[in-house]
Amino acid sequence: MVTHAATARYDWLWSWIHRYAPISVTPAEVARRRRGTDRYRWVCGLHRWLVVLAAWYERQGPAGEVLQVGELPEPEAGPGEVRVRLTRSGVSPGDTKKRRGWLGSAMPFPRVIPHSDGAGTIESAGEGVDAARVGERAWVFGAQSYRPFGTAARFTVVPAHQAVALPDNVGDDMGACLGIPGITAHRAVFGDGPVNGSTVLVHGVLGGVGSVAAQLAHWGGATVIGTVRQHGDRERVNDRVVDHLVALDHPAPATAIRAAAPDGVDRVVEVAFSDNVDLDAAVVRNGAVIAAYATRRDRPDFPFWSMLFDNLTIRLLGSDDFPSEAKQQAAADLTAAARDGALFIPIDALLSLEQVAEAHDRVDAGTRGRVLLTIPG
Ligand SMILES: NC(=O)c1ccc[n+]([C@@H]2O[C@H](COP(=O)([O-])OP(=O)(O)OC[C@H]3O[C@@H](n4cnc5c(N)ncnc54)[C@H](OP(=O)(O)O)[C@@H]3O)[C@@H](O)[C@H]2O)c1
Repeated sequence: MVTHAATARYDWLWSWIHRYAPISVTPAEVARRRRGTDRYRWVCGLHRWLVVLAAWYERQGPAGEVLQVGELPEPEAGPGEVRVRLTRSGVSPGDTKKRRGWLGSAMPFPRVIPHSDGAGTIESAGEGVDAARVGERAWVFGAQSYRPFGTAARFTVVPAHQAVALPDNVGDDMGACLGIPGITAHRAVFGDGPVNGSTVLVHGVLGGVGSVAAQLAHWGGATVIGTVRQHGDRERVNDRVVDHLVALDHPAPATAIRAAAPDGVDRVVEVAFSDNVDLDAAVVRNGAVIAAYATRRDRPDFPFWSMLFDNLTIRLLGSDDFPSEAKQQAAADLTAAARDGALFIPIDALLSLEQVAEAHDRVDAGTRGRVLLTIPG
């Protein structure tokens, strides 16, 4: 994390350098200057050493209006932290909601580098962190959760436990997809214990969270019933993971789910609580859990008495504030599942850092795969 003292020191150096080598934002311009005079070369070398290419916003609003790309002072790892040189930054709906001030949320810091998820290599370790971790490939979660500077940058700094070693057989693209959707999916599936032998109903199995939830439930030994909203999307679903698929535009989705689970389902992973709670209540068994991470209406109605007689638990999930041990368990399990080849996460678009606004707009428009930024080295 960049401390005030460090920021002041960098700001001073920054203004000094700027006098001799006005700041460029394009790699081509940096390259042109590197070919310049000796003094220019020297100054540009120092400049490159001190700054980091990043995307950021200083006020909330539409992506194209508030997101900027340029150079910022390089962050340093403090005690207990690592600095990660990123290759990928993962964009999630939660990141774009923060940027646009969803539900009246305010700017948490004067300047925000967006995105909590990413992947890259640990480049330096702060005091108290095992120096052997330097050089380790890692995936990052929570970089912009209660912290200002996320992964849309060449470097991010996170507490060491939020940079998780990537197995050799897992690529950076996958690593940058594991954070927000993976940790949310993990808690939705496993928040009430193992699922081996259980039946888990996952709504929206083509979604960012839903697809990982279905794969984790399958990996954990559950029978998975998945839903899509439209019949026409059925062929897009992986039938090695989803044992029974129900389209919600079926005339009687509860009957179709009951046909697959006559005794009812044990857990529901819910993306649209207000839309589906009646259906969920009709297909659960006594003692089941509905784990909801989103809703369309913020004041949903639900059939209280039938849910009470079924002794249901409604588990609401806010991933920024999951208990630390839950995040750690999720990180370990997601890494193991990825290593085991149990996760497949489709990529909708791989865009450059300069295309960050386009990336946000794509996510806000709704995609059938993850949107990642590639970060130049
Ligand atoms: N609470 C948290 O901590 C947390 C964490 C992560 C995400 N979220 C939120 O969860 C939402 C989804 O995130 P995501 O990344 O998974 O988004 P996504 O990739 O856009 O996927 C959304 C999925 O939900 C499905 N869906 C939408 N309405 C549905 C309904 N009424 N019934 C069944 N399925 C429905 C969509 O189905 P179709 O494919 O048919 O369109 C799509 O597959 C977003 O609002 C996000 O901000 C919350």
